[in-house]
Amino acid sequence: MHTLFELRRITKLYGGRPALDGLSLSITQGTTTALIGPSGCGKSTLLRTLIGLVKPDTGEVLFDSEPLTPARLPETRPRMGYVIQQGGLFPHLTARGNVALMAEHLRWPRERIAARVDELAALTHFPLDGLERYPRELSGGQNQRVGLMRALMLDPEVLLLDEPLGALDPMVRSELQEQLKEIFASLHKTVVLVTHDLAEAAYLSDRIVLMRAGRLVQSGALGDMLQRPAEPFVERFVQAQRGHLEHLATPATWVANSHAVVGRT
Ligand SMILES: Nc1ncnc2c1ncn2[C@@H]1O[C@H](COP(=O)(O)OP(=O)(O)O)[C@@H](O)[C@H]1O
Ligand SMILES: [Mg+2]
Repeated sequence: MHTLFELRRITKLYGGRPALDGLSLSITQGTTTALIGPSGCGKSTLLRTLIGLVKPDTGEVLFDSEPLTPARLPETRPRMGYVIQQGGLFPHLTARGNVALMAEHLRWPRERIAARVDELAALTHFPLDGLERYPRELSGGQNQRVGLMRALMLDPEVLLLDEPLGALDPMVRSELQEQLKEIFASLHKTVVLVTHDLAEAAYLSDRIVLMRAGRLVQSGALGDMLQRPAEPFVERFVQAQRGHLEHLATPATWVANSHAVVGRT
């Protein structure tokens, strides 16, 4: 299987403190990876490193087997769709305006843009009459869908989602989780998403990457973390999330699922 991203001993310092601390990670094409870990552990910085918005102080980022240099960004950037934490929609643009922005910039014909927006609204279950509304006139779940449509507009091979389901009420969240899972399965893209919910990570991804203080602590399936925690922190992290895990599935199901997942990676 083709390795799409390869991070080699990445360190990124902010004010002398490492946001990423010698982190190595490879991501296989066509898989879904969930980044999880305590607030401030470097998840968003890692996503920004993948897309080339953060330049590491030391270490190397390879994308498609070549170093991700600033000179390559004009070529690589359209190949990656990115939803930033908190959505990042432009408040002065309608949903349609937000989604179409990049395609307009690339001077796609108007009919092509309209057809693509319709296709994405269907894919993300976004109501057509919402397209002419502004973000403040849409619900949290609808705005998350707009962010997702905007990231998918150019049909990128990579999808980077920073807490795409943060701050939603539980009903909307669980509906969007199911829809995201369907979307990932139907599009076969390489997806890296950030979440702070271990059950959500297990549900949506092929592989969970648990981080702490800029380092990778353990990566694999939920069953591995439960049965073979790499260090005591993993047990504490899982323990703290137990309430979330219990109402999703029984431990037997997690382990059964995790074996299926391990076979694929
Ligand atoms: N642009 C920045 N300037 C200064 N410090 C930053 C910046 N971005 C992130 N950091 C710091 O780096 C650490 C990791 O941040 P972040 O990647 O946002 O964590 P997470 O997404 O896991 O919550 C935090 O201590 C944060 O304060
Ligand atoms: Mg973050």
